[in-house]
Amino acid sequence: MALDVPRKHLGNKGGGDRDGEKRDYSEKLYQQLKERMAEIWPVLMMIAEASARRGWSLYIVGGAVRDLLLNRVGNDRAGSKVENSLPLTDIDLVVENQVNTADETAVGAGVILAEAIQAEYPEIEAQVHGQFQTATLTWQSWQIDIATARTEFYAYPAANPAVEPSDIYRDLYRRDFTINAIALKLTGSQPGQLLDIFNGQADLQQRLVRVLHTDSFIEDPTRIFRAVRFAVRLGFDLEAQTQQLARSAVKSGIYEKSRSKYKKVPALQSRLQAELKYLLEESGWEQSLVWLDELGALACLDENLALSPGLLQQLRRMDRWVHKFEVSQPRWILLLELMLAQLGPERCNRVANSLNLSAQSQYRLRNIHACETQLKSQLKAQVHGSALSRSKVYKIFQSHSHAELLLMADRHPRILGASIWLYLTDLALISPLINGGTLKRLGYSPGPQFKKILADVHQQQLDGTLTTEESAEQYVLSQYSL
Ligand code: CTP
Repeated sequence: MALDVPRKHLGNKGGGDRDGEKRDYSEKLYQQLKERMAEIWPVLMMIAEASARRGWSLYIVGGAVRDLLLNRVGNDRAGSKVENSLPLTDIDLVVENQVNTADETAVGAGVILAEAIQAEYPEIEAQVHGQFQTATLTWQSWQIDIATARTEFYAYPAANPAVEPSDIYRDLYRRDFTINAIALKLTGSQPGQLLDIFNGQADLQQRLVRVLHTDSFIEDPTRIFRAVRFAVRLGFDLEAQTQQLARSAVKSGIYEKSRSKYKKVPALQSRLQAELKYLLEESGWEQSLVWLDELGALACLDENLALSPGLLQQLRRMDRWVHKFEVSQPRWILLLELMLAQLGPERCNRVANSLNLSAQSQYRLRNIHACETQLKSQLKAQVHGSALSRSKVYKIFQSHSHAELLLMADRHPRILGASIWLYLTDLALISPLINGGTLKRLGYSPGPQFKKILADVHQQQLDGTLTTEESAEQYVLSQYSL
């Protein structure tokens, strides 16, 4: 869908050269930006100079400008300066290159600038993304994305957008929210000028997340997740019409339709996965999920997915456990798996696959339901026979990863919880009294029986019949001939 930027937006609304107040404001902002980006500032200045030399304009856009302005607003409101010292490490630059040679058009301004920087600073890593003519510079914790100003076209709703070089106004118009569509100019006679054609500053002051146009969520459903994430993170509200638009985008079934009609849209799926990751990794994840559920947006993943009190309880518990145990999986994966596991075997596999979750994650979700059934019956059978020994509990759970066990304990706290807990907090942490070296020292020859002896001793150890290395050695010598 082509974006039609209203004519009235094509003038310079944010220009600060008309009165002194605006000029002072630009200078102040520029100064603050410089302080917050002190370490990387020389690189930014070099990019700005290289752009200016070619007659291009360079802007910093998106999150860095939003956060810079927000802290200003925060300072004005609360009089606090705490946040102001945090560096802004993710930098999105947009180059507007109206004056082009054929070569420049072919390669892309962002790429040309990145290459120039790399020649000067070899320690900065540069990655070029040819398809979109963008480049990423990475140095320590800093990341600078340089893109050529562009317009996006959506061939159909939720499609992967096609892009076309454009000007800064249209570039801002393709963005998600007013608060993310403010540009700060780094080139020209008055750097620091703001280009705020959608009144993002007013929304920052009113603490609102607002889309730029009515098709925003239809074109890119992942923006619903972004809207909620930003609102929760910044302590903002979703502007009323924006909420309405999110609800109707979900209700229209657009996401489901785009999935079935156009099969899988890979970039959309990986963007959705990335958004879920960001959202579930932020400290406000719980509030975000509650909002998404209220908006009906969890249906973007699966129409049956809802946030029941039971699921919420599981998620909170998992959040605590992830901090307690050393799990190899990050929190967001485990929270997401818990949500998907709710859907039952078939649906959960379908969603995991369509979200392109990792092979490990898909494996866990494919097996979890059958595994739970099997473990429950194993535990039941064991308990019915006689009291369950510690070594039997160990044997039942030892082939499962911590991530699997936490998921199962969380989903079935009454039936599986206590034994899994015993395994994770006690049995799995016990280091064996003896090892192969001990057996060699005692005079045994290495061979298949080593495994058997060590397993036997470990079992006795778990059950408390062997407690010291000496007793273990005595036991081995008495039970196994040399
Ligand atoms: N953007 C967008 N639509 C998306 C993703 C990104 O319009 N679906 C634009 C926004 O202008 C955003 C910018 O691209 O500000 C950079 O994206 P991203 O790095 O994801 O967001 P930030 O605003 O930098 O957020 P964060 O603070 O989480 O890094």
